[in-house]
Amino acid sequence: MRVLSIESSCDETGVAVYDDQKGLLTNQLYSQIKMHAEYGGVVPELASRDHIRKAVPLVKEALSSSGLTPNDIDAVVYTAGPGLVGALMVGATVARTLAYAWDKPAVPVNHMEGHLLAPMLEENRPEYPFLALLVSGGHTMIVRVNDFASYEIMGESVDDAAGEAFDKTAKLLGIPYPGGALLSALAEKGTKDRFKFPRPMLNHQGYNFSFSGLKTAVSLAIKDFDGELDEQTKADLALAFEDAVVDILKAKCTRALRDTGLNQLVIAGGVSANKHLRSAMKSMMEQLHGKVFYPRTEFCTDNGAMIAYAGMQRFKKGVSASREICVFPRWPLSSIDEMYSSKSV
Ligand code: KG4
Ligand code: ZN
Repeated sequence: MRVLSIESSCDETGVAVYDDQKGLLTNQLYSQIKMHAEYGGVVPELASRDHIRKAVPLVKEALSSSGLTPNDIDAVVYTAGPGLVGALMVGATVARTLAYAWDKPAVPVNHMEGHLLAPMLEENRPEYPFLALLVSGGHTMIVRVNDFASYEIMGESVDDAAGEAFDKTAKLLGIPYPGGALLSALAEKGTKDRFKFPRPMLNHQGYNFSFSGLKTAVSLAIKDFDGELDEQTKADLALAFEDAVVDILKAKCTRALRDTGLNQLVIAGGVSANKHLRSAMKSMMEQLHGKVFYPRTEFCTDNGAMIAYAGMQRFKKGVSASREICVFPRWPLSSIDEMYSSKSV
């Protein structure tokens, strides 16, 4: 069986085809980063309009690059939430229209489930059950994944998501949008331990995170320089910030692994592309005699491949869209099944 996916929840248009026997057949991605960079962040209306321009050409490209015709596709799957409402509406409308025209079922997919299952696209993949750290621009969570579609949220951020903290701190340091990856590149040139930032909630019970205080600490440190930040100081601040985020994520994952007895850790979502985080988690898991799994870098940030994989699993479970075209800007991972069973999708 083969599904064609459309991802359009934020600033990337992604289209992919996944075959349940052969794996991923094609993965097309168009990033709007350049367009939004001028404004320092995502402009929702511009994002929607750009998805309109790119979605159909990417679908054509996906079919021609994989040598397939619509007849070879068994279902069209698409991100129905969470995300920007206008951007989601574009993907949902294109997907549902194609499904109608091709006389195939349409399957709504939860974007966070896509991120969570992205490592399943790799040869070296975890086996259920495992623990997952989801770190994206909008979410930071520790999830106990018992099986496909059986998720327990153990902890999450009480304020900013990790990616959001990266982006806001990057802005404070004068790094252009999208800040996370560029801040991390700058941190590589930083001097270790010149600055030390707090690790909020590190010693709190449970598995919740807080990142907004960290951003404030960076802003206070910047103020001490009275607008005279040289490049080395910026790099040192970036490294100290990144160190603090990695320490917090590591500590909470260690606790969750210990308490659940699980020994496989999946790290997914945009921030899982962070090299420092990847190597820190790898050595932590070696010490714990466990294994860590990440998606390849291009599957960490938004992409159609992860939606195709998750969509295939949902399709196999019998999910198909209702007649109305609905999207869910807020669709928490904890209530995926409620939404599917309410038939409102
Ligand atoms: O998963 P994603 O593409 O979109 C959401 O679903 O939110 O994540 C985007 C987030 C942004 O906040 C971006 O700054 C962050 O992931 N990010 C990174 C890196 N690459 C992307 N953060 C830290 N280090 C990176 N290398
Ligand atoms: Zn995402």
